[in-house]
Amino acid sequence: MNEQLLNDAIANPRNLGEMPDADAVGTVGSPECGDMVRMWLKFTEKDGRKVIDRASFQSFGCQTAIAVASMATEMLKGRTVDEARQLSAAEMSTPLGPLPPMKIHCGQMVEGALRAALEADAPAPAAAAPLAAPAAAGHLAESLGEAAAPKSGKLKIVFE
Ligand code: FES
Repeated sequence: MNEQLLNDAIANPRNLGEMPDADAVGTVGSPECGDMVRMWLKFTEKDGRKVIDRASFQSFGCQTAIAVASMATEMLKGRTVDEARQLSAAEMSTPLGPLPPMKIHCGQMVEGALRAALEADAPAPAAAAPLAAPAAAGHLAESLGEAAAPKSGKLKIVFE
């Protein structure tokens, strides 16, 4: 893992914070470590296609999750929904180098939050379809208790 990049991303995370005018929001929590990531997406149209204009995140998570989320929100700019759907946790954390086994789920949390946000935006099948109304963007802390509840799966996706 690239410690320098990790430290830079932690010291100066990009796109950190709630996005009041977001079109979609997704939250995921890990019952195992109690961490949580929430991601907001704002869409725009470019050349007739619906693309991500910007993304932001909040995290009650470890530093690796913050670093991956910071990089992911940068990577997402300009991507279509389909392109964003195909972005894996491994790709989002590529700049950091391979994550140690104990930290793989940190990247998966970010991927889960992105997928939850993309699902929250559905149905929006056509590029020309009107953009979805802004989803309620509650505070991360409000959902923490629920997301931290024991569950058999590794991740719990909380639909807004
Ligand atoms: Fe759980 Fe990193 S240790 S998100």
